[in-house]
Amino acid sequence: MELKDTWIEKGYIDEAVPEGINLREEIRKMCKDKNAVILAHYYTDGAVQDIADFVGDSLALAQWSAKTDADIIVMCGVHFMGETNKILCPDKKVLVLDLNAGCSLADSCKAEELKTFVEQHPGHKVVSYVNTTAAVKALTDVVVTSSNAKLVIDSFPKDEKLIFGPDKNLGGYINAVTGRNMLLWNGGCHVHGQFSLEKILAIKEEHPDAKILVHPECPAPIQKVADVIGSTAGLLNFAIKDDAAEFIVATESGILHEMKKACPDKLFIPAPPEMSEAAGCSCNECSYMKLNTLEKLYNTLKYEWPTIEVPADIAEKAVKPIEKMLEISKNLKSAMSSK
Ligand code: 13P
Ligand code: SF4
Repeated sequence: MELKDTWIEKGYIDEAVPEGINLREEIRKMCKDKNAVILAHYYTDGAVQDIADFVGDSLALAQWSAKTDADIIVMCGVHFMGETNKILCPDKKVLVLDLNAGCSLADSCKAEELKTFVEQHPGHKVVSYVNTTAAVKALTDVVVTSSNAKLVIDSFPKDEKLIFGPDKNLGGYINAVTGRNMLLWNGGCHVHGQFSLEKILAIKEEHPDAKILVHPECPAPIQKVADVIGSTAGLLNFAIKDDAAEFIVATESGILHEMKKACPDKLFIPAPPEMSEAAGCSCNECSYMKLNTLEKLYNTLKYEWPTIEVPADIAEKAVKPIEKMLEISKNLKSAMSSK
């Protein structure tokens, strides 16, 4: 297969899809013909979630990819998610839709800087959030996601010295709920760091019975007003089970798609960011996740590119902390929607 230089330069295939085709049908047909499966994170566009075989949070996506028998995994999410799939399934072809779909949180922790930090703090075990590069995972003792972070940290002896990175808000939350004093890397997500406490409280005044759902990547003042703090799947499950009719949702707004589908009679209000939409900012949307489109999905499946590759020496080290995490959380059911 010939790849155009411009595609390689751009990091995705920008070929127009043939006119008049039924995009959804063609995508599903290619999946069947190629024994490919589509995974999507809750933060992707609703149309992408709706065509996926599985939609889930970071833990569910890793758990799922560890046991698939598909030949091709198409990861609609961000780069580190594709890397995790590839590390767990080195013999499968792992595709993403756009190589530019990165993650500001993963970018906030460079492997060389973490290595220096670890050398400066001898005797510490390294716990890394899944939102990290493969090179960072290769320096890590155990990986966590927002679904299982407490469970994984509780598995260490109380006096174990731990470094936690890169998300300082998740790390601070886990320190608070476990009574630990882990050393925290000073990283964060550009979406979760942007929510406005003032605006959330103003909505709460208008909707006094609304419950506030908060992802642990949000800063401590937002966590403080939460009725529940949890991963995307945790927040979704809470909204499904809880009696409240209204919810203010402080995480990436893509999750509202699944929440509205699961609970059509409930009201979900996205927590607003500090910057206003009038200023041209949709800061409660992850611009990386929104790079996943149906057109790119069609072309990715057609040309089987962009592929994710992880150097063998890195993958060999990175697989251990991921497998350790999966082992610790094997009985933890993370919400995953399959169709
Ligand atoms: P989840 O663990 O809830 O899927 O979160 C992933 C993520 O990228 C949060 O920003
Ligand atoms: Fe990364 Fe934040 Fe986007 Fe999640 S929402 S993928 S942490 S940039």
